[in-house]
This record gives sequence, structure tokens and C-alpha cells, in this order.
Amino acid sequence: MDAAEKFIQQFKKTKTLPHIVTRLAQLINDEDSTLQDFEEVIRLDPALVARLLTLVNSSFFGMSRNVDSISRAVALLGMKNLHNIAVTDAIQGMIDTDTDNPGFEPKRLWSHSAAVGLCCKMIAERILSIDGDDAYLTGILHDIGLIVEFETARNSFFKIIDQLEENSPDIVALEQRELNTDHCQIGYLLALEWQIAEPLAEAIRDHHLDNNEPAPNSPTAILQIAEYIVNQLGFSVKDDKYPQLSPGLSAHVQKNIAEYKVLAEDLPEELEKITSMYGK
Ligand SMILES: [Fe+2]
Ligand SMILES: [Fe+2]
Repeated sequence: MDAAEKFIQQFKKTKTLPHIVTRLAQLINDEDSTLQDFEEVIRLDPALVARLLTLVNSSFFGMSRNVDSISRAVALLGMKNLHNIAVTDAIQGMIDTDTDNPGFEPKRLWSHSAAVGLCCKMIAERILSIDGDDAYLTGILHDIGLIVEFETARNSFFKIIDQLEENSPDIVALEQRELNTDHCQIGYLLALEWQIAEPLAEAIRDHHLDNNEPAPNSPTAILQIAEYIVNQLGFSVKDDKYPQLSPGLSAHVQKNIAEYKVLAEDLPEELEKITSMYGK
């Protein structure tokens, strides 16, 4: 068993992914599944039902009438979106917010993940005119490996974060030195285990690779651009140390700079709508 797998085994002892998340992933992968199937699964989780109804009635969706039935909420949100909400719920529940390291607030990891998820969705929909649900999923999950490290090897995790400075090696190099693996590898394996589609899991694996030139509309590129924008806006895991864009992606952003500027301006307010629902 390699180092990444060991971390995942350890993580699973303390944090169980709600059964509902993998069940929803199975339904998405099954062409014959219907919205009724989704509804039946969701009904089993009252907390999720409450969250869904809050979400569809929030300003985020701007519905003029109050939505009080689960089936209508399910129809409005769609299958992938439902799965994304369940994953967001699960991730939020996995981060312990009590920590005794003054240099790191777990809350930042949560708001960073939520911001990257949202930014990925906005890039996909607004700039590339493609479906944003897959992009959101890669974004919300991209640093799940850091959550695993934080939960299973807290001292090492703090050591890595403390070493991360403007002129230090990047986080992946520090993790490799300290843990013999890194959050990209751990995140990739976990995503596959959670039945996330392979191209999305690969984007998670490659999100810190700076020597590849992904096509701008690929999941990896969307994730790398979102990470860059979110860090620029101050939602970084740690200040002053984050990846730069490759020349190809940089050129893509420059070409669409007007759209990207509007997106960056809108992002904090959109993020506030998500984070306020979670009270974090
Ligand atoms: Fe990362
Ligand atoms: Fe990140």
C-alpha cells in the first residue's frame, strides 16, 4: 500500500463519507436513473432535505414562489447539482474547526474550497459556455487531500503549512518531503473511491502541475485558473504562496480579460451566498 492509500485508510476510520454521496454518484452514472430515484435517496437524509429546501428558496436561485416540496426542489436543481450539494455538505462536515495551531484556521480550507468550486462553475458557464456542475465538483474537492492530511496527520500538516513561505518550495514538494505523498495524489485516489468521473479525478491529481499545458476548456485548466483567481482575491489556504498560471493559460485569461474581471468582481458576493448557508 503506498503512502497516499495509507492516509485514506486512516481517514476512513474517523470520517465516513455519507452513504448518500456515493449512492447519488451511482445514480448519476446510471443512464436509467430517474429524478424519482434521486428523490427516494435524498428523502432518507433529513438534514440534506432541509439544506436543499433552504437552497432553492435562497436568493441564489431567485425563485419567486416558495418551494416546499422535495420533488420540485429535485426537479429544479437537477441530478448533478444535487450530488454537488451532498458533496459540499459532506466536506463541510469533515473539517474539524477546532485547532490549536495559531498559524492555520481550518475555516480557511473550507472557504478556499467553496471559492474554488464556485469559481470553476463561473468560468465553465460564463467564459467557456459549458456545463458548470462538473467544474464545481472538481473545485470543491480539489484540496480534499489537505483535509485528509489535516485530519489524520495534524502535526505534519501544521509543519508543512508553517514551512510554506514566499521563498519556500511549493506545498507539493514540502508534502513529499514530510509525508512521501501529497494532497493531489490523495485527492485523486479518494475521488476515484467516491466514484467521481475519471477526467475530474485527474484534474484534482494535476491541479498543481505547472509543466503541463492543458486545453483551456479542460477540467484541469478550469481548476488551475480558478485556483489562481481565488488566491488573487485573498481566499488562499495560506497567504503569499500559491501557484502561478502556465503561459498558455495566462494567454487565455488575457484574451478574455474583460470577462474574467467581471467574474472576479462578482465572485465574493456569490461566495457569501454559499458560505452564509453553512454558517461558516
Ligand atoms: Fe491544492
Ligand atoms: Fe487549492
